Amino acid sequence: MIKIIKRIFGLAGKYKKKLYWAFLFGFLENICANIPVIVILLTLNDITTGQFFMSNMMNRLWVMVGALLLQYLFNLIVSHFQSGTGFKIIGQQRFKIGEQLRRVPMGYFSDKNVGNISAVVTSDLTFIELYSMQFISKIVNAIAGAIIIAVFVCFIDIQMALITLTAYPLAYLVYIKIQSLFKVFGGIRQEAQVDLISGVLEYVHGLSVIKAFNMKGKGFKKFADSVKRFETSALEFEMIAVPWLTLYNLCFQMGAALILYFGPYLYFAGELTSGKFFMFMVIAFRMYLPIEIIGVLAGIIRLMGACLDRIDEIKNIPLLDEKDVDKPPNGYDIEFKNVSFAYEQKDTIKNLSFNVKEKTITALVGPSGSGKTTITNLISRFWDVQKGEINLGGTNLKDMKCDSIVSHISIVFQNVYLFNDTILNNIKFGKPQATMEEVIKAAKKAECHEFIKKFDNGYETMIGEGGSTLSGGEKQRLSIARAILKDAPIIILDEASASIDPENEKKIQQAINSLVKNKTLIVIAHRLSTIRNADQILVLADGKLQERGTHDELLKNHGLYADFWQRRQKTRDWRLSNKNLVAAPS
Ligand SMILES: Nc1ncnc2c1ncn2[C@@H]1O[C@H](COP(=O)(O)OP(=O)(O)OP(=O)(O)O)[C@@H](O)[C@H]1O
Ligand SMILES: [Mg+2]
Repeated sequence: MIKIIKRIFGLAGKYKKKLYWAFLFGFLENICANIPVIVILLTLNDITTGQFFMSNMMNRLWVMVGALLLQYLFNLIVSHFQSGTGFKIIGQQRFKIGEQLRRVPMGYFSDKNVGNISAVVTSDLTFIELYSMQFISKIVNAIAGAIIIAVFVCFIDIQMALITLTAYPLAYLVYIKIQSLFKVFGGIRQEAQVDLISGVLEYVHGLSVIKAFNMKGKGFKKFADSVKRFETSALEFEMIAVPWLTLYNLCFQMGAALILYFGPYLYFAGELTSGKFFMFMVIAFRMYLPIEIIGVLAGIIRLMGACLDRIDEIKNIPLLDEKDVDKPPNGYDIEFKNVSFAYEQKDTIKNLSFNVKEKTITALVGPSGSGKTTITNLISRFWDVQKGEINLGGTNLKDMKCDSIVSHISIVFQNVYLFNDTILNNIKFGKPQATMEEVIKAAKKAECHEFIKKFDNGYETMIGEGGSTLSGGEKQRLSIARAILKDAPIIILDEASASIDPENEKKIQQAINSLVKNKTLIVIAHRLSTIRNADQILVLADGKLQERGTHDELLKNHGLYADFWQRRQKTRDWRLSNKNLVAAPS
């Protein structure tokens, strides 16, 4: 419990001081809240022992009024320090996690881990956001209340105090048991929650396939199972500690029973004055109230612990650029030196070496799965190579920060991703500070301006998640506009291999031509025209460099490329567009 409070303070960062003040004033507020009870008990003592004087009473009345005023004041101070602090602390944590995820190897983002991250950023952090401040003040109140009353009873009568305090260690033992149960079942519940979130994400992402294949049973079953599993584990978590929580409360009722038994016993034995006797009778019903609350909070404490564990897990993911160096590149030549790389066990890239000169076009060609996209992922440092090195302008990528590397690169992905935002913001993603004129200029170059203008809201039109309201060709051109706006010296273009109608095909080609002028271009080429224009073609097969040269050189080799070219030529399907003959993408 104290550990959890410490961990919340650990999260607080620059808000830590505010929390300390809230903590201190919460403690003082609680002392003031207990003063009237103590005054009433002392007055009861005076009345029963015949020492009651009105003048004393007036002084006590002032003490009570003073305590109430101070309590009110301290409460305002606590609210001042606490209000909004939980939201600010957690907001700060969300930003930190978001920042950190950009520097994590892409391999980390498996389905399970994506579920885990979603659980942390949404439910875990929200849970702490909503409950941490309340939780801290309740714990402070409980501990402060228990200490004040314990000290007070020790002052009244040490023998009776020892009897009343026996409930504490017993309750503590039960509390340890409750925590150990919650630890086990809390873990199961958290795992089921991650499963549920992954299940929902997968279900929503695959909804079109589920519908298309009418997978009512199968597609739904996985999702339904995760819902059921979470329901069962949440119920188990609630129920498992019920008998122990009852026992926890029973410890305090036993304490009260001991007071009710030993109070009269000691009184009649002459070891307790009537005043003290009455005081203990009143105390029996109040003494344990604050500490009983801790039992009620036990489940929340455990869940908070589990949430904090998961937050720490994400914060401890090893980062790609943990080394605190960021050497600048000297130019934009790209060099692969004996690079080997495996996503998991099996090598995907095998001892690969090649050079890309600044402002030239390099086309990557090879069968599906030969490692073309992987090479572009390595240049962008989405993953680190296991053997060899990649240099950008003579600087090893491992000596550069991920952010610096990607600032030199514009990527047009094979599968375009657009955000659930306006067209304007999707294009501006390449350069957030861009002016409207710059955006329109880029959109015109990328052949987007015309179709954007046709929307009622123009550039302010919202596009659904993943660009679901746009056609494939429109999405690609938007992503090219984004890259044109970024205007980075290196362009990585993973050409879409899917068929697009000839009109779109021509527009995309024009967009690409505007994008790559005077740039270092690495293109995973499917279009014959792009391949033919390349300064060098790297032919890959099974992660190895099979051939390298210009189109003409490679044709003369009569090797893999010549074979590949001939097959492409044969399967090429000429279609008639409005004015031009355009090669359909293979
Ligand atoms: N994230 C990943 N985790 C594990 N293996 C992967 C991952 N991405 C790709 N692979 C594997 O690495 C190999 C190379 O994949 P890559 O995507 O680089 O191929 P590609 O040449 O771009 O293929 P395509 O032409 O179909 O796009 C494949 O066997 C693929 O299954
Ligand atoms: Mg690919």
